[in-house]
Amino acid sequence: MSPTHTLQQTETSAPAEAVAPLMRGIAVLRRLTDEGGTMSPSSIERATGLARSTVDRITATLARMEYVRVDGREVTLAPHLMELGNAYLSALRLPSLLGGRADALAGELDESVSLAVGDGDGIRFVHQATRRRAMSLSFRIGDLLPAERTAPGPLLAADWDAREWQRWREQRAAAPEGLAFTVVPPHAPSDEREFALRAERARHDGWALDDQLIEPGLVALAAPVRSPGGEVACFVSVVSHTSRHTAASLRDTLLPRVLAAAAAMEQDLRQAPPAVAPDSSPALASWTGASKQELGREFIESLARGLTVLAAFGEGRDTLTLTDVARATGLARATARRALITLEHLGYVTVRGRDHRLTARVLALGYPPLSVATLPQIAQPHLAALTGQVRDSASLAILIGDDIQYTGRVATRRIMNVHITVGTRFPAHATSMGRVLLAALSRAERETRLAGAEPRALTPHTVTRPDELRATLERVRQDGYALVDEELEVGLRSVAVPVHDRRGTVVAAVNVAMHSSSRTLEECVRDVLPRLRTAAGFIEADLHITERFVRVPAM
Ligand code: PHB
Repeated sequence: MSPTHTLQQTETSAPAEAVAPLMRGIAVLRRLTDEGGTMSPSSIERATGLARSTVDRITATLARMEYVRVDGREVTLAPHLMELGNAYLSALRLPSLLGGRADALAGELDESVSLAVGDGDGIRFVHQATRRRAMSLSFRIGDLLPAERTAPGPLLAADWDAREWQRWREQRAAAPEGLAFTVVPPHAPSDEREFALRAERARHDGWALDDQLIEPGLVALAAPVRSPGGEVACFVSVVSHTSRHTAASLRDTLLPRVLAAAAAMEQDLRQAPPAVAPDSSPALASWTGASKQELGREFIESLARGLTVLAAFGEGRDTLTLTDVARATGLARATARRALITLEHLGYVTVRGRDHRLTARVLALGYPPLSVATLPQIAQPHLAALTGQVRDSASLAILIGDDIQYTGRVATRRIMNVHITVGTRFPAHATSMGRVLLAALSRAERETRLAGAEPRALTPHTVTRPDELRATLERVRQDGYALVDEELEVGLRSVAVPVHDRRGTVVAAVNVAMHSSSRTLEECVRDVLPRLRTAAGFIEADLHITERFVRVPAM
């Protein structure tokens, strides 16, 4: 469903069994994705042509599923939505099996490398190994490019039959300037003969180039990666800039290494261990029923159930029959069947015989904007909620050397600590977040730090003696929190807990800071700590979903 297809057209052409609320909910998610993740309800109303009351019910349902946040005049995509794209990427397995090699190639060539698959008339990214440079245009996982303006595109089209060429022709006639592709600049209408020639050459050569077809300066070289069965599993591309490479020099210097990497990836696929399905599957039908009871008319159960079907797929669950889907979701067969028919009509599911598979289009449901979130962005709404509950400032920080650095903060309007902003540094030993971060270091690392110069006393209360600090950090480690009273500043008291990544490593700390007159130390532990822990748990849940297939920057 591109912006050139109205929702009404999509619904008119749908099979009779298709579930209209599911189509509408998906249209809202697509719009939000194309707009970068945030829209007002009235702009959703205008963009989709849906009635305001329908938009409100859809967003209430999506909010209940934690797929969006609705706050005041804004609807924003939420990290939990990535579970749909994660279901596709884990079922596909390519990012887990080949991502490491793509990253290694990027390091070796010092250029960005991507993995992509075909999606209709486009190329969609499933992995990105991006170099940080000024002159690099990088696309996000889930972004869709028009096939004819990319390097992998001709390789994809090399396998097209007459029907697929016809589909391409129709899509381009419907949107001649490429407006269906929201992440690339508009462009003069594509020339079919030229694309057909490139496809012909790509079939013969086994690789293809993009010489600034997306935009001036961007050059790319792609090769197919075949699965053991011989069909194309994905394309590996190296992307560069004309300040470093022309298309010709890319081919002359890097082609052998790209082909070698593709061959190694094919070997990886041949040697891949069988996919294993996790024991727990998302049985969600009862959950949607409970939400219906609670929210009543505002909750569109058929939308929630339809989206639940997508989450039933995953590693070791890449092809599911109707019976499998019904079992995994707990939905009635008839309900699951209608959801699958709808999802197939919209291009999110393909069917061969009785087997259903997700398509790369599932990534268009929020993945690109959500996949580039930083940890502070993920934490922000949770810090805001925490501040609202405890009426004191909440912050996020990381360890840099012997300091903590604030990476996120939601302050109350009270006047204390106005001088603390994102970027502020304090000596780690005298702060609650610093203690949490120091306590998480290995024993050897902690000892090295304690053996260095004795830290500075910032107030008469600052603990500076190494043996006392050692005991304090050990206690913080055991308790899972740090409480610091007037050691950084007289009159300031704060409590902090760690934030763990998926592997259990402490990557940041969150705290609440307050005036020492506002609560006793006991009240701090009794009233603030549980809420702080809950907030940290929410941040961790969002972080773990987000970093399943992407690296989340700490700041
Ligand atoms: C392309 O323009 O062909 C292209 C761009 C970026 C990529 C891969 C290919 O990551």
